[in-house]
Amino acid sequence: MALLSGVEYSNQELFDAQAHVWSHIFNFINSMSLKCAVQLYIPDIIHKHGKPMTLSQLVDALPINKAKACFVYHLMRILIHSKFFLIVKISDDDNENKGYWLTPASCLLLRDEPISMAPLALAMLDPILTDPWHHVSEWFQNESPSPFDTKHGMSVWEYWGIEQKFGQLFNEAMARDARFITSVAMEECKELFKGLKSMVDVGGGTGIVAKAIADAFPGLKCTVLELPRVVAGLKGTDNLTYIGGDMFQFIPPADAVFLKWILHDWSDEECVKLLEKCKESIIPSKHKGAKVIILEIVVGDNNEDDEATKTQLFFDMLMMVDLAAKERTEEEWAKLFSAAGFTSYKITKLLGLRSIIEVFP
Ligand SMILES: C[S@@+](CC[C@H](N)C(=O)[O-])C[C@H]1O[C@@H](n2cnc3c(N)ncnc32)[C@H](O)[C@@H]1O
Repeated sequence: MALLSGVEYSNQELFDAQAHVWSHIFNFINSMSLKCAVQLYIPDIIHKHGKPMTLSQLVDALPINKAKACFVYHLMRILIHSKFFLIVKISDDDNENKGYWLTPASCLLLRDEPISMAPLALAMLDPILTDPWHHVSEWFQNESPSPFDTKHGMSVWEYWGIEQKFGQLFNEAMARDARFITSVAMEECKELFKGLKSMVDVGGGTGIVAKAIADAFPGLKCTVLELPRVVAGLKGTDNLTYIGGDMFQFIPPADAVFLKWILHDWSDEECVKLLEKCKESIIPSKHKGAKVIILEIVVGDNNEDDEATKTQLFFDMLMMVDLAAKERTEEEWAKLFSAAGFTSYKITKLLGLRSIIEVFP
């Protein structure tokens, strides 16, 4: 038993509390170990080997100073604990009878995989995006719009315009996620687009989702509205057109507006403005099913899964730090839709941590 600020706690409670604090202080070690594995191409090296790889085989194949070889074991040990690799028995040889193998999570980090999350890991764990986290308390006290702004003196969008290499890495990360969504969800989401004649993907990046929808529905006229620098030089097809512009100024008329990972980048006021623009765009359509289709997180819709809610809250904080924006609960979404003059909405939980929200005028 021990007293802590006047309250008596059992030794076990104190040890648990100490472990809890340690775990949170050192949480970043998970992220940084993962970043190191991606930078050293560990998933790709094991994948290329084609079968479980012993520690010495891995060390031989890694592009590292071999004097550091003994530390590879430690890096792999934490990555096995965090379920990025498996250790499996490969022989009865007493020396090295175990090998490292991939899990679904490390397969998602293979560089050549079309739905790879490696570009996202490298973009999100780049000091450009991790440095602002050291300025969060300062931002709470200053006049700057976001911790990102506090650190870099400009907004994320301005920064990506100037630092083209980083902008490209981010666009690549978005494109891979778009491919992920289209490859796993197109089948289940087909009903969403049925009967529509035209659709505009606002802030649609390089058009991966719009292209997949246009291919799946040849009769549907798809448009991608994006910042001019993102769509410069991109060629459309018969039923896919790129328009460079500012979504806050103009959204081309269509039966449906698609917004994937857009509204979480903006404040409530900006979202209402954007949703009003979306409404203006679908209103001239005489189509009965005219709607806005949103693909975003609905915070707290995984009540039974604490880990999923934690990850949703990570996204929420990420939006705050980079853009002074946020992820929203259903109640918060409903307020936005009503403020923008929409009459009803429907949430379909299809996509892991994210949902489809259909919003009707
Ligand atoms: C988080 S990304 C999402 C991209 C894409 N929808 C996806 O999920 O793969 C946000 C996108 O909004 C675009 N964007 C930001 N401000 C914009 C504006 N004012 N008008 C049009 N697009 C904008 C960015 O260029 C970026 O591609």
